[in-house]
Amino acid sequence: MLTAYDYPTARILDESGIDSILVGDSLAMVVQGHETTLPVTLDEMIYHAKMVSRAVTRALVIVDMPFPTNHLGVHTVVEQAGRILKETQAQAVKLEGGAEQAEVIAALVRAGIPVMAHVGLRPQSIHSMGGFRVQRDEELLIQDAVAAEEAGAFGIVLECIPSSIAATLTKRLRIPTIGIGAGAQCDGQVLVIHDLIGFKSEYSPRFVKAYADVDTLMREAVRHYRNEVTSRQFPGPEHSFE
Ligand code: KIV
Repeated sequence: MLTAYDYPTARILDESGIDSILVGDSLAMVVQGHETTLPVTLDEMIYHAKMVSRAVTRALVIVDMPFPTNHLGVHTVVEQAGRILKETQAQAVKLEGGAEQAEVIAALVRAGIPVMAHVGLRPQSIHSMGGFRVQRDEELLIQDAVAAEEAGAFGIVLECIPSSIAATLTKRLRIPTIGIGAGAQCDGQVLVIHDLIGFKSEYSPRFVKAYADVDTLMREAVRHYRNEVTSRQFPGPEHSFE
């Protein structure tokens, strides 16, 4: 699984054989420039998810429910998730939380809305969790993951937890575990696309691996263009009309 927030990126991911594309609320940080995922709105999630769905012919498209979800009534969350599926053509939503979200997950599933849960580090609860740090409370993690599965989640993201706990959860749960900072024993992995292609950011956790250096490539291309424009090398005759 990888994240995408726009048409061209989603098309590349889909055509490259990625099984599932997440329109993550990480878009608040990597696209909108906020310090946390909290500011992104439902309308903004829908706006980006529409672009992604338009590009995808094969992969499963999952959209994050934006903050706050566990403070709203079940009815409101179902209504919001319904809007996401109806307006974006995505197939599922992702919801941060485990045991405390069990009632909401069950209601969404009853309404015919497939739900992926998300336990461990939950960026939407960053202020109450005291920062972006590894979550090590095994008992709590098991409780959360089992509650999410029992409530009907079809899969679960495990974020920033020790590999040994992720391995235990992966063995214990019937639903697939998708890890980010949770070791190699999960059933699948997810990364934020901006991290994978190497856009530099102020917050770069240990679990991120950059497979390319697009940041440098883009800066070089922009400088090259600027130099050629100021020296009148661009546009050349081949880019001009008689
Ligand atoms: O918002 C997001 O991109 C996520 C993934 C990192 C799992 O939740």
